[in-house]
Amino acid sequence: MIDALHACEAQALERLRVVQAMPELEAWEIAVLGRKGELAGLLKGMGAVSAEDRPKVGVVANEVKTRLEAAFATKKQDLQASFWRERLAADHVDVTQPGRQPAVGHLHLMQQAIREVTAIFERAGFARARHPEIDGDFYAFEGLNMPKDHPARDEWETFFCDLPGNEEIGKIVLTPHTSNAQVRELKKGVFPIRMVNIGKCYRRQSDATHVPMFHQFEGLVVDRVASITHLLGVLEYFVKAFFGPERKTRLRPFHFRFTEPSFEIDISCGVCNGVGRVDGEKCKMCKRGWVEMGGAGMVHPNVLRAGGVDPQEYQGFAFGWGVERTYLMKQGMNIDDLRVIYKNDIRFLQQF
Ligand code: FA5
Repeated sequence: MIDALHACEAQALERLRVVQAMPELEAWEIAVLGRKGELAGLLKGMGAVSAEDRPKVGVVANEVKTRLEAAFATKKQDLQASFWRERLAADHVDVTQPGRQPAVGHLHLMQQAIREVTAIFERAGFARARHPEIDGDFYAFEGLNMPKDHPARDEWETFFCDLPGNEEIGKIVLTPHTSNAQVRELKKGVFPIRMVNIGKCYRRQSDATHVPMFHQFEGLVVDRVASITHLLGVLEYFVKAFFGPERKTRLRPFHFRFTEPSFEIDISCGVCNGVGRVDGEKCKMCKRGWVEMGGAGMVHPNVLRAGGVDPQEYQGFAFGWGVERTYLMKQGMNIDDLRVIYKNDIRFLQQF
């Protein structure tokens, strides 16, 4: 019996030595030390041991059991310790390492341009106004001295909406220019007016100098006295503040239905520096050294009337510029295709 106990111990310890994981260890405990385990099985044979040998066998049986339990406890501790060692090594965080910077976004370049334009006009006493970008025919055309079916409307390449308009404002359009702000601002009846309205405009156009959705800023000054000299002063101030003192400006007589007289404003091109050629090729942006930035003129009496203002009492001037072209004409921009602004290529946008 004593030999059998020692043999059982030796064999159990050998199996314990190669145990590598908790579930295996639990199985070993049940098999060796459990109620129906190997040791208990052996001790069932105690009945057959003589009364004289029984105390001796009892002592050996207890010693074997104690050693096996101790070996089990040590193995359990080792397995737990190595489990935590591995877990900690895998989850290790070096708190002394420098942190990883999250990507930081910034305003889109058009939003930056809008803020810059606003700040320049605010310094000259203009207030930023916000008028609808989807508006009625009345504000986009009719109130601007373009009667229904007038051919001048065709120039605006307008998107008409499938929305029910109403009698007061007519059909709904995606505004082709920010000039819809003129009659809306006049109707407020607060004078003098010095507003700059910046908003989205839409036209069915797409090439190097046109995008179907673009921004304009619309200036409107209405007072008892407002002259063409004031208009020229404001435009000159803006060009110098935005582009720098070296940039040239020219006015070309033009025709708009809502201003009289009317002009188009050109500035010398920032891509070819006013020369009209880049590396021997025609400048893609301007072709002739000048870029058209916008239109301007003295507010037409019919527009004042449409806004409920007596042209005998008040006069005014207005101007409307494209924000995209204005921004890309900044010195050193060298971008010869407006469409790149809205391609959403992060490599381009990151540079601003
Ligand atoms: C107008 O839109 C007039 N409402 C401007 C005006 C306002 C005249 C007040 C008189 C008084 P025009 O169609 O020329 O004018 O457009 C003005 C500017 O908007 C252009 O010079 C250009 O800079 C910009 N623009 C026009 N269409 C586009 C387009 N598709 N993409 C980008 N910019 C454009």
